[in-house]
Amino acid sequence: MTDLSLSSKNPIAVRADALVVATAKTSDGVAIVADHLPAELVTEIEAIAPQLGITGARDEVRKVPAGPRLKADVLVLTGLGERAEDGTFDPETLRRAAGAATRELSGVASAALSLPATDDAELAAVVEGALLGAYRFDRYRSNDDAAEEPVGSVEVLTTLARGAKAKLAVERAGVVADAVHAARDLVNAAPNELYPATFADAAKAAAKDVKGLKVTVLDDKQLAAGGYGGLTAVGQGSSRGPRLVKMSYAPAKAAKDAERIALVGKGITFDTGGISLKPSASMETMKSDMAGAAAVLGTMVAVARLGLPVAVTAYLCLAENMPGGNAQRPSDVITIYGGKTVEVLNTDAEGRVVMADGLASAVEDGHDVVIDIATLTGAQMIALGPYTAGVMGTESVRDEVKAAADAAGELVWPMPLPEELRPNIKSKVADVANSGPRTGGMLNAGLFLRTFVSDTPWAHLDIAGPSFNEKGAHGYTAPGGTGMGVRTLLTFLEGRGAR
Ligand code: BES
Ligand code: MN
Ligand code: ZN
Repeated sequence: MTDLSLSSKNPIAVRADALVVATAKTSDGVAIVADHLPAELVTEIEAIAPQLGITGARDEVRKVPAGPRLKADVLVLTGLGERAEDGTFDPETLRRAAGAATRELSGVASAALSLPATDDAELAAVVEGALLGAYRFDRYRSNDDAAEEPVGSVEVLTTLARGAKAKLAVERAGVVADAVHAARDLVNAAPNELYPATFADAAKAAAKDVKGLKVTVLDDKQLAAGGYGGLTAVGQGSSRGPRLVKMSYAPAKAAKDAERIALVGKGITFDTGGISLKPSASMETMKSDMAGAAAVLGTMVAVARLGLPVAVTAYLCLAENMPGGNAQRPSDVITIYGGKTVEVLNTDAEGRVVMADGLASAVEDGHDVVIDIATLTGAQMIALGPYTAGVMGTESVRDEVKAAADAAGELVWPMPLPEELRPNIKSKVADVANSGPRTGGMLNAGLFLRTFVSDTPWAHLDIAGPSFNEKGAHGYTAPGGTGMGVRTLLTFLEGRGAR
């Protein structure tokens, strides 16, 4: 883990392998966005920038020799793009620029970051982005290449270094980055290694390291006996049985009327589609079909480490969707926890089926609000593209989740659940069918989930696209698992704790 500290040193005098400053796009070229750098140095770089192809665009990271005027060896320029109308840069822009820089500093022992960090929000964003960018998944590499290790230490330069708020921001950023990295690690883990039982073990191990988390695991036999028909049906095609992990956190000094919040995560450790088998190309990324459960697990650890004043229970719905000899058949009718029946028309619409058990169980346990998060539909990506998650549900909770995502810097957009689409998931034989037409696919899935939450305030996040980066790295995001959802969920819970 990258070591992070704050200091109020002058960037000219700071000794580090690399000094990072920001660039911005202006109407007539590039501007260096850094106080305290020698004016001649700034003028020199700004003058030569066009010839070096430096534009100040977002995600542009360039290294130039630091020259004799600085104590650092290299000067790293990270782009912020254009200034907002009020002349500032929003926190997510700073987060991304800091992360893009640390991402390019692999193999470097020490770096100093001199980015705009003149108020608490800016500082928090820089610190968080720097840590989020310093991530690498190398578990399966047989030779560890030091040149690819995340940057060893980062010193963030700010005039706020000695403030109490700054200290808290650094602490929170460390907790957040650990949680996001833990979620990414789980998503990136190979599915021959990470299956329901080992995921449950990972949850137990994670809970051991922090105070206040309790974990109980229901195995395949207990699930079948307990009436969890969704997890049982989806899991029965695999030799590796399903699990339901319940994880609870209660604050140390719980107010008697403390709110009780449930988080439900989809944890399909591999989704072949089952008997409704996916084509091979669509299967390649399906180890990531547990990203919702991974985000929930990461969030729970963060909640406990930060000691938030809310009571939270997590439900990790874990199964492997395989087409084994005992797999469910299209047209099977199953009974979800709580008694509602589902006609399984398509075994590839398995996420909503395991989530139904989790949601019904969370509602039965009497929570004030339920948030679920799932890589639920390909239709999410058709509607919103690869970066933006959809959020649906009770209007007020949906909007609260959207606001939390905005504050946290995650892309989320509200989608409707029109009653008019309800006939799409009507079954000829059971209470509800698990799939409908392709049109409105994300909403059909949301409406299906709503069947199992009755009137508990609820929101559903579909993170199919944004949970897994199939392309190149960008901002603080590496290829593979992104940890999408952790920051939104945590910010939502912090908001609930503060009200
Ligand atoms: N896990 C998939 C959704 C998914 C697709 C996530 C691509 C990430 C990337 C889900 O289980 C699924 O297969 N959904 C089907 C539902 C359909 C059969 C109604 C889909 O979206 O095609
Ligand atoms: Mn599926
Ligand atoms: Zn799935």
